[in-house]
Amino acid sequence: MTKDQAADDRTSDDYWNHNTHYHGVVLRNVPRGCGAALDVGCGDGLLVRRLAPRAVHVTGLDRSAEMIAKARALSEGVGNADFVEAGLLEYDLPVEHYDFVCSVAAIHHMDFTKAMTAMRDAVRPGGGLVVMSLATNAGRRDLAISAAGLPAHYYHHLRNRRRATHPGPGAPIVVPEMTWGEVREESLRLLPGATFRRHALWRYSVVWHKPR
Ligand SMILES: C[S@@+](CC[C@H](N)C(=O)[O-])C[C@H]1O[C@@H](n2cnc3c(N)ncnc32)[C@H](O)[C@@H]1O
Repeated sequence: MTKDQAADDRTSDDYWNHNTHYHGVVLRNVPRGCGAALDVGCGDGLLVRRLAPRAVHVTGLDRSAEMIAKARALSEGVGNADFVEAGLLEYDLPVEHYDFVCSVAAIHHMDFTKAMTAMRDAVRPGGGLVVMSLATNAGRRDLAISAAGLPAHYYHHLRNRRRATHPGPGAPIVVPEMTWGEVREESLRLLPGATFRRHALWRYSVVWHKPR
């Protein structure tokens, strides 16, 4: 992306979709006095830019060269952010280094157990981890809960209609394979004491604080 294209795209941060709708869940869990933060599967870097005022330094990691180029161009004025083009499972993440690690709508692109383990191990004792993503329905109960998301979608879409027309980051997308129940079970196995929540707009969150 050229500088001119990036400049045209600066309003990119003013957009709404089912992922950005839940950025508040991530931002609320950034620990006070956060030093190093990491966003895995950062896409165009919007969440990195929202994290930047809350941390000493934020790194965005994404395996897509196009997304990293876009994130760098859009984050030019952000002095405490950097971006790494790499796949999470191929990248040598420092162990117990980050005060805060997060990931939105990306873990379902990866081997869940390996990715969650890598992110967990990168958090320092006393730090936090928030993973949000999508899952798939298995059975009538899941379908009923998903169907109940429709009115919520129309309500929020209407409220955010101007910001919802933005095309968004144009990041690669993948259909999730794991069910809500499988994600919950595996998350709680890997992260004892974590809180799993299924949200109305077809997303879940896993929030975990690493014991000191
Ligand atoms: C649906 S997008 C979400 C982007 C951003 N987090 C958001 O909420 O808009 C998923 C992102 O994860 C990235 N991704 C997929 N697999 C990855 C991996 N193994 N390591 C790092 N990034 C990955 C993709 O390149 C893509 O940018």
